[in-house]
Amino acid sequence: MRKKVTIVGSGNVGATAAHWIASKELADVVLIDIVEGVPQGKGLDLLEAMPIEKRDSAILGTNDYADTANSDIVVITAGIPRKPGMSRDDLLNTNHKIMNDVVGKIVHHSPNSILIIVSNPLDAMAQAAYKISGFPRERVIGMAGILDSARFRTFIALELKVSVENVTAFVLGGHGDTMVPLPRYSTVAGIPITELMDKATLDRIVQRTRDGGAEIVKHLKTGSAYYAPSAAATEMVEAILKDKKKILPCAAYLNGEYGIHGLFVGVPVKLGAKGIEQIIEIKLTPEEKTALDKSAAAVKELIAVINV
Ligand code: LAC
Repeated sequence: MRKKVTIVGSGNVGATAAHWIASKELADVVLIDIVEGVPQGKGLDLLEAMPIEKRDSAILGTNDYADTANSDIVVITAGIPRKPGMSRDDLLNTNHKIMNDVVGKIVHHSPNSILIIVSNPLDAMAQAAYKISGFPRERVIGMAGILDSARFRTFIALELKVSVENVTAFVLGGHGDTMVPLPRYSTVAGIPITELMDKATLDRIVQRTRDGGAEIVKHLKTGSAYYAPSAAATEMVEAILKDKKKILPCAAYLNGEYGIHGLFVGVPVKLGAKGIEQIIEIKLTPEEKTALDKSAAAVKELIAVINV
């Protein structure tokens, strides 16, 4: 049987995720939104691109959660995006209300699905979805680390004039100003980048990575990034549907790993058919651990506000 992926929210992130997923023929896609007409229009338009793309993915746009029934994966992008000058945290209360509504309906129709949370503020929304759903922690995963790492990788490749394919990088922690890029674990063809660039250059790239989301918001003026965020969510979908056992940085609910308890924070995980199949604990220097703790504390502040 074909796999089914529901995408909640037919805005830029949701519709572009549908595009990547359908064009890679990973699954049939249901695009759902409360706005009438938009998911139907974008869904039909994408479906009509399939003969050209030579893909047999079915795409359905809808406002009815019954159409999402028995999804294997549900990608939640619903929520308001940032405007210039806003932090991801400014979206907290509005997006929490939306999460309450959406997750309840998804759980009802797809009780065995794996949830990928994309809405901001990312870690707090993942925590809200985890609590609302009652799903085991391996089935609620936040998308952030892949995006932040992709930005880091882009800037490294630009700086060193090498193929992006040669660059691996890890960004841990919350998806916010306190995120923790890890230069020690970031390499070009296996060579740590700390050996390839001076500290000032590295610091500049790390800061640009931290500000990566805001840099796009500033250009766009209304709305935030969507190509890279949706590509990152698609990589997670693919790793799960193909049971790839791929190690990727994702927001996961920690139960003592990294000394953090009861909190979603970005860490390396193994993604496969069951969702998070392993949380990978890498050795951190005292400075890196302090940075991760600081990032976790920032997530904790947010979840205290919405009490999840
Ligand atoms: C970003 C937003 C989507 O990082 O969180 O672009």
